[in-house]
Amino acid sequence: MKRNHIREWFDDDAFWRELYPFMFPEKRLAGAIREVDQVLELTKPKGKLALDLCCGPGRCSVALARRGFSVTGVDRTRYLLAQARRRARAARVKIEWVREDMRDFVRPDAFDLVLSMFTSFGYFDDKREDLTVLQNMFASLRPGGTCLIDVVSKEYLARVFQPTKSETLPDGTRLVQRHEIFDDWTRIRNEWILIRKGRAKSFRFHHTVYSGQELRDRMEKAGFVDVHLYGDLGGGDYGTNAQRLIAVGRKPKARKGKATGGR
Ligand SMILES: C[S@@+](CC[C@H](N)C(=O)[O-])C[C@H]1O[C@@H](n2cnc3c(N)ncnc32)[C@H](O)[C@@H]1O
Repeated sequence: MKRNHIREWFDDDAFWRELYPFMFPEKRLAGAIREVDQVLELTKPKGKLALDLCCGPGRCSVALARRGFSVTGVDRTRYLLAQARRRARAARVKIEWVREDMRDFVRPDAFDLVLSMFTSFGYFDDKREDLTVLQNMFASLRPGGTCLIDVVSKEYLARVFQPTKSETLPDGTRLVQRHEIFDDWTRIRNEWILIRKGRAKSFRFHHTVYSGQELRDRMEKAGFVDVHLYGDLGGGDYGTNAQRLIAVGRKPKARKGKATGGR
């Protein structure tokens, strides 16, 4: 893995390891089978080669492989890739796992489908790096291939925003979440405080929150065409009831004598 990036919060493996039970409870892991069916319905890929970018514990990679796809899962976090390998073994599916930063992974014209699921996009302090990721996704698609990005929606967030939330998790842990919008409504700063047996542990992270139009503009800048927005994976409108921001875009089919490239 190339190591010339400035260290940011997501480079801390302990963050992902300690939050794993809260981020990836069994229900969310099991839910990937339905999510992937919905993804396939929205994207209708022409072939069976899929890239799960920022695959984490392989939720969608494993579900795609069970649907007969040949899957490459890319992630930077060793701990999560180990979970992904374990889950693939248990499901008896073969998947290619690559440990690489999403700003660096690019495999030209290799995939029919490229996915970025469960808010794995928008992590970088330098927002131009988000465009680099989109350009990598575009370049990695075969002509005619489709890409789906699933992130938290700015419009949704503005509607339901609460600076503080608190809940008790099934194992008795108290989770307090604090949120702050900054940088002119472009980013959210989060703190998750886990209180267990009278001891508190705090985790901080921040990322860009995209509106539908902002994400569509960025995708078009990277070269995607026919960009459609949905408010959930079931294909609901990106309207006032939207719960997520789902963007689906296509790499144009190559025209004779003309290369497709969004850079
Ligand atoms: C919220 S998790 C989502 C995981 C997975 N997409 C899913 O649907 O379950 C975000 C993932 O992004 C990965 N990630 C964060 N920064 C990354 C980077 N710069 N390059 C590659 N992966 C990264 C993390 O390791 C984590 O697995």
